[in-house]
Amino acid sequence: MAHATTEHANVVELVDGFSRPRNQARFAEASSDPLLHFGLTTNPFADNVNPQFFFRTEAHEEAFILMKKAVEDDASLALCTALSGTGKTLLTQILLQDLDTHHHRTILTLVYPGMSRTALLRDILGELGLDPPAGRTSIHAMLSQIQQEIIRLHACGQKLVLIIDEAHFLKPDSLHILRTLSNIEVPEKKLISVLLFGEDHFRDRLDLPSFKAVLSRMVFRCTLRPLNAEEVEQYIKFRCLMAGGRADLFETSAIEPICRATRGVPREINRLAHNGLLAAARTERQQVNGEIIEALTRVHQPS
Ligand SMILES: Nc1ncnc2c1ncn2[C@@H]1O[C@H](COP(=O)(O)OP(=O)(O)OP(=O)(O)O)[C@@H](O)[C@H]1O
Ligand SMILES: [Mg+2]
Repeated sequence: MAHATTEHANVVELVDGFSRPRNQARFAEASSDPLLHFGLTTNPFADNVNPQFFFRTEAHEEAFILMKKAVEDDASLALCTALSGTGKTLLTQILLQDLDTHHHRTILTLVYPGMSRTALLRDILGELGLDPPAGRTSIHAMLSQIQQEIIRLHACGQKLVLIIDEAHFLKPDSLHILRTLSNIEVPEKKLISVLLFGEDHFRDRLDLPSFKAVLSRMVFRCTLRPLNAEEVEQYIKFRCLMAGGRADLFETSAIEPICRATRGVPREINRLAHNGLLAAARTERQQVNGEIIEALTRVHQPS
């Protein structure tokens, strides 16, 4: 997160997304810069995942509690699915921050399209701070190296928590590898929890007969949903406040068109609200109103 500073120039340099006057002459036009215009210390709607900006809707809070419970109850596999832009990656970051490091070794792997089993296992080894076995590495050799590390962690009183983001990109054979990993246990408990975060269609894929064994292990499942109208209003106020601004930077009249255009998807809200602030600052208004949002939505198409 960009840190608050009394030096306007520094603030402007630090914050992503808003215009950044580079020289004195342009700096004089600072009223068109939303940070200065609205007295913000950082961009409230930056397109990044910053746990400090986490707004706890009921669905996000429930998902967070459920994933934590999966870890505490030694579930081997857990699943969180949602539409793109609704906060899955943000939740992975919150969990990374929140799970206590004394009892857990928490690592995060980001799956990408076409990622092979070998690449997945290499990534996990890398996150564990281990080098893959020398020479031509077999899947079996890497699995057994991870297994040894899991047992070593257990001996030190730690459980491995493997968070997988973009799980919908997992190929079938990678999913089966994760199931194999999730089976590592000692008589009294599982030694690893694998938390999968993916798009909605991933859940549908798991209904295929070939994934029956995987799905049956996922006792803990949750979904994130887009924000409802009341949540959208509170979300916008919360982010403005967190960025050092006033809670009423958006007029009530702006909320309905934002809900309509974004369908409550936080990434889309961020994009539109960000543009709303830019437009209001350019026209020297103290608030973003419905008219500004309506004008923007005529050119802004949610993806
Ligand atoms: N509950 C929330 N509180 C605050 N910000 C949120 C929340 N949910 C989502 N966001 C913000 O919305 C944007 C999109 O969130 P994120 O990247 O986590 O979505 P995603 O579900 O992982 O999307 P994708 O499937 O495209 O990877 C980010 O800027 C994130 O900070
Ligand atoms: Mg994501």
